Amino acid sequence: MVPDFEKAKKMAQNSRTSVSAEVFGKYNARGMYQPTVIKKSEAVKSKIRSRLQQSFMFNGLDEKEMEVVIDAMDEKRTTKGTNIIIQGERGNELYVVEEGELDCFKKFAEGEEPKYLKTYQPGEAFGELALLYNAPRAATITSNGDCLLWVLDRNTFNFIVKDAAARKREKYEQFLKSVPLLSSMDHYERSKLSDAIKEQVFEPEEYIIKEGETGTVFYMLVDGEAVATKSFEPGKPAQEVKQYKAGDYFGELALLKNEPRAANVIAKTKLKVVSLERNSFKRLLGPLDDILKRNMDSYINYLK
Ligand code: CMP
Ligand code: CMP
Repeated sequence: MVPDFEKAKKMAQNSRTSVSAEVFGKYNARGMYQPTVIKKSEAVKSKIRSRLQQSFMFNGLDEKEMEVVIDAMDEKRTTKGTNIIIQGERGNELYVVEEGELDCFKKFAEGEEPKYLKTYQPGEAFGELALLYNAPRAATITSNGDCLLWVLDRNTFNFIVKDAAARKREKYEQFLKSVPLLSSMDHYERSKLSDAIKEQVFEPEEYIIKEGETGTVFYMLVDGEAVATKSFEPGKPAQEVKQYKAGDYFGELALLKNEPRAANVIAKTKLKVVSLERNSFKRLLGPLDDILKRNMDSYINYLK
């Protein structure tokens, strides 16, 4: 609940104030961005901030951009059955779920029944496609019950969020397309994956994963080479069990089985990986569970 929101909002009477030149210098140069400022208490701001920090759509923003986005967020409450977004309509807003759940349906062909795609949970954002690509809404999104949403206007999205999000999606599009594990994913699923991944670089001989440790992260190798080694007898050196090249993945076992890391993974050359933390792995790669489990059979001496 955000009891002080309505009051603060009324007091603000839709005020659109100008903010420091430092923040807006670069945006003003690209056309006049009039920041949207919907007054809210510090408590509400910090609530929005925690949500945005969990939402991949916003993870490319620096601190100042984050403040602008928080200022611009409006509140929307909905009840069961309300369509927040209707496929085919024009769209001007992006939504972030604060409370409640919403279902997403998409009609793939004229005359066909809409197909259920997914349920949005707190922390997730939707409605970005119409804003990113200036296209009609690509799916319908309906409240499952009472919901509280944060709503971002098209202008703020375009000037502050869009570039960072689109840049990240474009950057990883080709790589994710080349990963054999992900070949059954569609373009949209891959773009959600780009939002969620983090990039890391390792030097030769550096351990990416240590056998026996608790694991919370899944990796895909973007470039360079790595090897997996495993100890089969206490006191004896670990033996090489696998080699990795660009497009390969590792670190799935600890997440799938809730067990300690079953091997070491060590950089052979300087390399770059992208990683997904546990929740994103479950959410975004959940549909690939069967493939991941089938591929485990190929691990040397892993399944006794
Ligand atoms: P937008 O097209 O603006 O409005 C509908 C939203 O549904 C869309 O943005 C996405 O946020 C969301 N969505 C979820 N899954 C899909 C999908 N497979 N295809 C298109 N949109 C999807
Ligand atoms: P995880 O156990 O999370 O961390 C170590 C990773 O090494 C493991 O997931 C697999 O992705 C990978 N690996 C490669 N070869 C083996 C093997 N023979 N046994 C177990 N894990 C292996």
